[in-house]
This record gives sequence, structure tokens and C-alpha cells, in this order.
Amino acid sequence: MKNHRFITSFKNSKDFISGATQFLEKFAKDKKVFCALSGGVDSSAVYLLLKHAKINVLPVFIDHGLMRIINGIEEREYIKKYFPDAKIVDIRDSFLPKIFLEEDAENKRKLFKNGYSDIISQTITEENCDLLADGTILPDIEESFGVKITDIKETLTIQEENELKAKYNKGFVKSQHNLDIEYDVEATIQPVASLTKPEIREILKFFEMPQEIIYRKAFPGPALAARIIGPITSENLAFEKKVHDIVESKINEYYIKKHGRSMIINEKGEQEPFQMFAAISEDILNKKVTGLVNGQRTYDFPLAVYGKWNYEHLNKIASKFTGYTRMFYELIDCKKGVYDVVIRSVNSIDARTASVTDLPFDLITSVAEILSKIPETKRIYFDMTPKPPGTIEYV
Ligand code: XMP
Repeated sequence: MKNHRFITSFKNSKDFISGATQFLEKFAKDKKVFCALSGGVDSSAVYLLLKHAKINVLPVFIDHGLMRIINGIEEREYIKKYFPDAKIVDIRDSFLPKIFLEEDAENKRKLFKNGYSDIISQTITEENCDLLADGTILPDIEESFGVKITDIKETLTIQEENELKAKYNKGFVKSQHNLDIEYDVEATIQPVASLTKPEIREILKFFEMPQEIIYRKAFPGPALAARIIGPITSENLAFEKKVHDIVESKINEYYIKKHGRSMIINEKGEQEPFQMFAAISEDILNKKVTGLVNGQRTYDFPLAVYGKWNYEHLNKIASKFTGYTRMFYELIDCKKGVYDVVIRSVNSIDARTASVTDLPFDLITSVAEILSKIPETKRIYFDMTPKPPGTIEYV
């Protein structure tokens, strides 16, 4: 097995697309290419590039039941609308019972990794695909190899990759759902390996995709499993989908009203907001959640604070405190209900670090008010922790 990556420096979409087309013609002409769509910007760009280069591509969306809802619409409906030739593979009935009641964060990730790789392998075999295209982007490459992309060759065997990683990036540990899986294909192709997320968005603009796809917020591979702390049940999954949609849609609406689009590049060069969502748990202050200390993932309890809202002050404390992984500002205690809800909104360049979005307090409280009307809601918090010392997700 080997990986072919399109290595270039991005100047503009037109030149990039013409280079990417040549790259795809070189490696994928007369081949059948499997391309998993996730609804996110990276895989959408890969698919559009393959189509543009007139490559025989099979776009596949795997519906495991833990995808988000945005504006009341399930991710698979967006896929059907914007990518009508996508094959929707529904694994909800087999996958959900496996993940229900799994408590451990790493085991949840493992279940995703196995679930994805099994169904991808099966589809590749059934459909006789020769190659697999994936949406690996620049930060993923540079983080995992520990060298600049321009310092690696266009084609590397898995063995060469492992040698590189061992030489330059000994300490790299990342349990992503899509890493280190080998499929029964001749090679993997990574046409957007040289791009950052804002550059990917430029490509989507060039292909005249709608704003709701161009500014789609990043979403983790393990999907809502990364945002339900503790065991997943059908009840808490239904609740998480509901509150997640409220948080994401309301903040999107605010940005669209203020800036004409749901994401801006702020003065620090960050995508703002990069991700916003709701995480849920029963009794979250007694649950260990993830943090990042000296580049290492940690697990510890969060701390809740009360009092007058002051973004600068809270932000300052939340950047420095020790002994806890997160600092939550308590918005509402409903004094009833089952689930605590944490509203998280972060700005980021490439997800390696993140700052907390400075949202108007009126917006935060109006979102919290809506959440408080749902009978299952217990307490509502706003997470003030940047990355580091927090992580973006909670598992
Ligand atoms: P953290 O929580 O590590 O997240 O600060 C950084 C970025 O990665 C996403 N994320 C994941 N994506 N598989 C993925 O594909 C994973 O296991 C995973 N965990 C986190 C997260 O949403 C954020 O954008």
C-alpha cells in the first residue's frame, strides 16, 4: 500500500484545481475511486475535485446514527441534496446497539474506527474500487509526520511513512478514528493534503457550493459520541441532537445576521467560530473530561464558576488555572431535569489550539433560555476554557 499526495503551495483556486486535476489524472485515470463523504468541507472538496477531473468516483456516506442535525435537517438529507449520486450506507441498526452504554472515551473511538473500516472495506470489495481518496489536510500531515509537507515525497509507501514518523515525530499520539487503517486498495490518494481549511473553503466557493456547506463547522469522526460524556443511550442521543442543533443553529444565525456568513476570519487569523456545539452529561461536575497539559491529553474534573459575566476576566482565569480540566460558567440551574448541557464555541486556525468565542452575553443567555425550556435540561454552562489547557471536545 502507498499514499499519493498532491504537494503544492496554494496560490488561488483556479491554479490549484488545474494542478489537482493533473495529479488525479496521473494516479486515478481509468481507476475506480472510493470516496467517503462525511458532510464536512474536506471530503466535499475531494469529491468535487474527483468529479471535476472526470474520475470514476463512488461517493459514500456512512450513516451510523450519531451525525448531527442542523436547522432541523439530518446530515444525510444535506448529502442527498448536494451530492445526489452519493451512496448512503445505513449501518444504524447494527452500529448503535454496539456503542450504546459504552462509557470509555477511547473505546467509543475504537468502535467508530472498527465500524468505519469494516463498512469501508466491505464496500470497496463489493464495488471493486481500486483506490481510496481521503480528505487529509495540511495540519494532519504536518502534525503526524513532524515535517513540512514540502519535505515529503509525492508517493510514500506505508513503511517509508512509518520511518519518517519514527524519525521526526516520536511523541505523536493521536487516536483519530481514521488513522492507521490499511484498506485493500492499490493506493490512497490525498488531493487536498497541501491545503488548510480556509483554502478548502476557497475551493468549495470556486465550485459554487452553497454557504451552508462552505462554512460547515468541523465535526469529529466519532460524531456525537465525542459530545456525550459517559454512556450513550437512545434517550440522551435524542436530547444531544436537539440541544446541539439549537446551539449550532442559533450561533450560525447570529453570525449570518451580523456578517452575512456563518464564519469569519478574525484579526488573529482564526476561523470564528470554528466549532460550536452542545455537550451533555448527567452530573457533569462529577465526570472527568479531557484537557491538554504540556501537549499531553489529561482527564480531570471540570470546575463551575458563578457570578457576574465578564469575558476578559473569565478568559484570563480559564487560561491559567490548574487542578481542573475546564472552567464552566454556570448560566442556568433549572432545578429539575436530567442532563447538564455545556455550550462550547471556539475559534481556531487549525484545531491545534483554540480560543473561546467572545459571543455577546445576550446571545449566550438567549440560547440558554431556549435550552432551559426542554424538560430534560438540568443545568446549563458555557465553557470558558481555551485549548490548551482544555481540548475542543470532551472525550
Ligand atoms: P480536540 O478535542 O482534540 O479536537 O481538541 C481537535 C479537533 O479534532 C476533532 N476531533 C476528532 N476528529 N476523530 C476525528 O476525526 C477524533 O477522534 C477526534 N477527536 C477530536 C475535534 O472536533 C476538533 O476539530
